[in-house]
Amino acid sequence: MLEGKNIVVTGTASGIGKRTAELAQLMGANVFSVDRDTPKHVVGDFIQGDLGTASGVEAILAQLPSCIDALANVAGLSGTPGAAPTIAVNFLGLRALSLGIAPKMNQYGAIINVASIAGFGWRPNVDKTRAAVAIQGFPDPAKFCTDHGITDEISYPTSKELLLLWTYQSAHLEDFKSKNIRVNAVSPGPVETPILKQFRDVLGDARVDSDIGRVGRAGTANDIAPIIAFLASDGARWINGTNIACDGGLEASIMAEVMNF
Ligand code: NAI
Repeated sequence: MLEGKNIVVTGTASGIGKRTAELAQLMGANVFSVDRDTPKHVVGDFIQGDLGTASGVEAILAQLPSCIDALANVAGLSGTPGAAPTIAVNFLGLRALSLGIAPKMNQYGAIINVASIAGFGWRPNVDKTRAAVAIQGFPDPAKFCTDHGITDEISYPTSKELLLLWTYQSAHLEDFKSKNIRVNAVSPGPVETPILKQFRDVLGDARVDSDIGRVGRAGTANDIAPIIAFLASDGARWINGTNIACDGGLEASIMAEVMNF
């Protein structure tokens, strides 16, 4: 499905990004792997870099070739490091990398943003979210959080709400549309990776166990990586500006509760 494609995957030192890089390579892709930490087993060409600063993103972009077919934005923070770094990595850095890579991408490329069920609340929060997403470039993350009322406690869900809204907008951004680059999101529920322990610390065991209980088990990186690979492939050529829940039915269960059906 990805034979001969050049795919950039972020967050490859752990969890979902690691599995996505491995799977993309198995499917025939040339992988450019990006993380702040060096993976134990490097897949493809590794670029060490920090997605949480403008200069870090610039340095990553400078090391990428001009023939990219897909970008899988997987790297993320749980909120435990605080609002500024969480918003910087999960939204500002991701957006800067995506916009910066567009000129290096081939026609009919794909960008896949790993969001989360935690971004489910973007619709009721859309006024706040729209105002934050409207700020262009890579503003100072701490000031951005203060200006938009993003506290440590809500930084993780807010980062994913911003990401979902931006994904929907991106389907019609000239930067991508002019080259027929599709931009989609994948939203996992709880997934057994190192970050899950941090979610338990932030949200509490009861909330995480309730989410897992609704669908029978936590997901694994193996459940999420194939969806990212599919969205990067030509088989998804008519899927653009959407969010695919990959959560064993968790979103459907929450929706039924919220909308009373
Ligand atoms: P993980 O903690 O196993 O992996 C995250 C990776 O991102 C790590 O390798 C880390 O080094 C990298 N990273 C963090 N900050 C970085 C920075 N500044 N620059 C470069 N790389 C950086 O977590 P996991 O589960 O693989 O998470 C991947 C994505 O999936 C994240 O965006 C997360 O929000 C999302 N997600 C995860 C869920 C879960 O329960 N595991 C649930 C829903 C969404």
